[in-house]
Amino acid sequence: MMNWLNHIAIVVPDLAAAAAQYKLLGATTSAPKDLPEHGVTVVFVGIPNTKIELMHPLGEGSPIAGFLEKNPAGGIHHICFEVAEIDETSAKLREIGVRILGDGKPKFGAHDRPVLFAHPKDFQGALIEFQQT
Ligand code: CO
Repeated sequence: MMNWLNHIAIVVPDLAAAAAQYKLLGATTSAPKDLPEHGVTVVFVGIPNTKIELMHPLGEGSPIAGFLEKNPAGGIHHICFEVAEIDETSAKLREIGVRILGDGKPKFGAHDRPVLFAHPKDFQGALIEFQQT
């Protein structure tokens, strides 16, 4: 059910500075991309076996604004695993007592694929995203 790591998302106070640092270490970096429907601006960092998503709040009421306030230097926000079938994953999570954030239904994420987030209190304190391959 749980396949490979898709990405690790890190909230950063300064996207350009963060991207430049990864670039210095040999990673590829995308141009910043505004995702107004998600309230974030992202830079995708490419390394051979996975991606890092650098995120910065965009607009009023960004869902990561509070995170950056609590972690002004930035920090790991979530880890995303790919799954073959998101509805099957949703059912399994409920079965094993893991709450799903929001209304429990998969949403279309930053990559236009269905995703859902497990409640960190039910997942060792980590915010885990599941994305359908
Ligand atoms: Co993500």
